[in-house]
Amino acid sequence: MRRTHRCGEISNEQLGQDVCLQGWLWHERDFGGVIFLDLRDRAGFVQCVIDPDAYPEAHAASRGWRSEYVVEIEGTVIARGPENVNPDLPNGDIEVRVSAARLLAPSETPPFVIEDEPRTSEETRLRERFLDLRRAPLQRALALRHRLTLATRTVLDEAGFYEIETPMLTRSTPEGARDYLVPSRESPGSFYALPQSPQLFKQLLMVSGFDRYFQIVRCFRDEDLRADRQPEFTQIDIEMSFVEMSDVREVTETLVRRLLEVAGHDTDVEFGHMTFHEAVDRYGSDRPDLRFGNELVDVSDIFAEAGFNAFKGVVADGGVVKALRVPGGGAWSRSRFDKLTGTARDAGAKGLVWLKLVDSEITSPIAKFLEPEVVAALAARAELSDGDALLAVGDEWESAATAVGALRSSLARSEGWAGPGMKFLWVTEFPLLEHNAEAGRMVARHHPFTRPMDEDFELLATDPLAVRAQAYDLVLNGVELGGGSIRIHQSDIQAQVFDALGIDEEEANEKFGFLLRALRFGAPPHGGIALGLDRIVMLLAGLDSLRDVIAFPKTTSASDLMTNAPGTVSSTQLDELGIQLASVEEEAE
Ligand code: AMO
Repeated sequence: MRRTHRCGEISNEQLGQDVCLQGWLWHERDFGGVIFLDLRDRAGFVQCVIDPDAYPEAHAASRGWRSEYVVEIEGTVIARGPENVNPDLPNGDIEVRVSAARLLAPSETPPFVIEDEPRTSEETRLRERFLDLRRAPLQRALALRHRLTLATRTVLDEAGFYEIETPMLTRSTPEGARDYLVPSRESPGSFYALPQSPQLFKQLLMVSGFDRYFQIVRCFRDEDLRADRQPEFTQIDIEMSFVEMSDVREVTETLVRRLLEVAGHDTDVEFGHMTFHEAVDRYGSDRPDLRFGNELVDVSDIFAEAGFNAFKGVVADGGVVKALRVPGGGAWSRSRFDKLTGTARDAGAKGLVWLKLVDSEITSPIAKFLEPEVVAALAARAELSDGDALLAVGDEWESAATAVGALRSSLARSEGWAGPGMKFLWVTEFPLLEHNAEAGRMVARHHPFTRPMDEDFELLATDPLAVRAQAYDLVLNGVELGGGSIRIHQSDIQAQVFDALGIDEEEANEKFGFLLRALRFGAPPHGGIALGLDRIVMLLAGLDSLRDVIAFPKTTSASDLMTNAPGTVSSTQLDELGIQLASVEEEAE
């Protein structure tokens, strides 16, 4: 017989029908007489019952079957007796009365039990990912990912976009991370770079007249990994001609609303707007989580007059002191504040000042430097109540704010500050450039093809750090979902920006000559955005790791524990590529 249904599709709608099911044996209970089998597949599971008196052959065939065997049963869908109904299951009111049973493939005892809430380490599960993927939460997440991908294609097709593929073996794109390099056999000593994004190609497609492009595309970045960063990830990459920022945002909002609908969320969401400056000033982050308030408080003027010299000096030098009220922090121990100091330091702060207010008494490592009127002013400004604590960092504006912002995010997680819901936010007016201390020069905050705001053009020559970009990020609940910009479509402006970035003509031509040339042959005004598909699926599925929405993800050290990638290669392969490995000792030197 052929399979008639998926196991999880069987419900009381098939009552009385004869069915043939194939799937994995999930649980089996052999009571010496009647055998109960839960048969599972991607749609769910159904209970099957084998009565030895009615069907001795089926009973004999299934004796000794164990978990994860692949089996086939034929039978009839019947109602369960009232005492056996399980109201918690979608098909808990029926079962399949088995008339024939056949083994399709046995299974060794799996190294862990396939269950919704895993009790095995993630490492073991990643090593045996093909088994881990049998778990219902992962099956659901990948099914959702499929539906969201499909809806993306439909929405963008309806809006007049063409899906066009761009190369994977290409040259380095300047997205700011390290490249994954692929050595060339034909030209020993030369390397392709896997794309960090299709940025330059999608701009060229606009120059070629395709008007609206999208691609659901794998991107590769060799950067420090965390729960929301994978070395290879997927973008919904979009580019449009003859548009302004608001057009790109509109298309994105339409797409996001449809994705919310597909994932079963409320589509009546608001897309807030905030400038980069406001976001950093109020929340200490360019991707603030607006599900809670707990805003930063500026206490620079108070410390300018206080006896605490470290902060007084910061303010005198043009810096700021940013503070955060911690409700209930008065009960916290010194070691808890030491940990927070570590968090602030990791975020770039030189140190953290804390004080607690308990029974109108102040406790703080710097208490002796804080005059009573300073304490009173701080308490009033931060609206401290008895039992609260205050955290403060003094530094140059962005450093102080982002360090306190990191504390805000960390405390939100540990204290559960965030309420429910989806808070979307467009962050705009990013600075075009920033000074990179490591490189000792100016770098583009987004990428070097981002168009400055028209009213800031003149500042490029005089005060480049003050130039704002026509760039925008879409943030959801504190996670950056996507980012994009209006591009430079005139080669003279592109040259000015390269100049501000300290990229001379030779370097510009060497790296992006083809783009600069294209800009000289009639480039339409254009702009776009890229949304992180993995992040979208993660947030819409209510999960908090990208590993739960990618079939075969990598660990935070960028390895695949199942295939053992990356791995060594044979000396023949290396010879063909003209590559010689430095010995470990040489590397250590
Ligand atoms: P950007 O670098 O902001 O922009 O990337 C766009 C979006 O891609 C996602 N993303 C990632 N997701 C998972 N793991 C990663 N390592 C990772 N890195 C980025 C994020 C991010 O918002 N070319 C520009 C887009 C443009 O200007 O049109 C770009 O790539 O969700």
